[in-house]
Amino acid sequence: MYILSKFQAKVFLLERKEFSVSLDLGLTKTKIQFVDGFFIFPDGQKITIDHIKKIIKKDTSCFSIENNDIIKLSLFSDDTNKYYKLMPTGIDTPPTLEISGIRMHVTKSMSAEEDTKKKISFVEPCFGYVLDTCTGLGYTAILASHTARQVFTYEIDENCVEVQKINPWSKELFNNPKIKMNIGDIFLEIKKLKNNFFDRIIHDPPRLTFATVLYSQGFYDELFRVLKHKGKIYHYTGHPGSKNRGVHLQDNVLKRMQRSGFKNLKKVFNGVSGEKI
Ligand SMILES: C[S@@+](CC[C@H](N)C(=O)[O-])C[C@H]1O[C@@H](n2cnc3c(N)ncnc32)[C@H](O)[C@@H]1O
Repeated sequence: MYILSKFQAKVFLLERKEFSVSLDLGLTKTKIQFVDGFFIFPDGQKITIDHIKKIIKKDTSCFSIENNDIIKLSLFSDDTNKYYKLMPTGIDTPPTLEISGIRMHVTKSMSAEEDTKKKISFVEPCFGYVLDTCTGLGYTAILASHTARQVFTYEIDENCVEVQKINPWSKELFNNPKIKMNIGDIFLEIKKLKNNFFDRIIHDPPRLTFATVLYSQGFYDELFRVLKHKGKIYHYTGHPGSKNRGVHLQDNVLKRMQRSGFKNLKKVFNGVSGEKI
């Protein structure tokens, strides 16, 4: 599938004849021909300058090229009553997932890639069995899998899995044997996991108001139970300066994690890190 955002579309506008541009949101480059007013793709599909201008105008969306036309990569689910969109963040940076207007990664102060590296840095060295509680686009699961023995990751929403399938940056979720993808509610699924099993846990839930149970004492008790002794955890809580995911949330999360038994708890970049001694 060929995918374009405004960042690649701007390259099309500058170029004539033959040029190279990314058709997978920055991962690789492909040659495009410009002949008689049409941009011609490797499979023979053609689009016009007007198509390119539309992509630049709709600057918070990604588009696929299908049947010589551009199709917005978004979906609405009647089941969840939510709108899902792959949202571009830069010329060669991974897109984020926007669910009804809420972005699933930090994208303003840094790229989703840097955001993911930061999260993992609090559980370094990231080795052994890793629990990634909330898959999203799979960036934490994928990066963790590069050093871990196995990553267990859980996604409650099948619509997010549909977005993963079209996102070139999520590909490894489907072809990396070290990643064990599960579709299910981690609040329930964690009860099936063994005591003292995981070396590392990365807990990156949606905002508190969208997933209250994933910030509950009962869930933290389960996270503590499945973490090995000497294991490390990072819990994303959100930006301390922001209205909804503020300093109080970080303090409350820290207190609850302490009650569950976690030690060496620290307020760190957008979250709380800790250990099981
Ligand atoms: C902030 S995103 C995670 C981003 C992820 N770390 C990444 O690298 O892309 C949160 C994700 O958790 C999912 N989610 C929400 N509640 C869940 C639950 N109870 N169990 C599993 N996944 C859940 C949401 O659908 C969303 O995709």
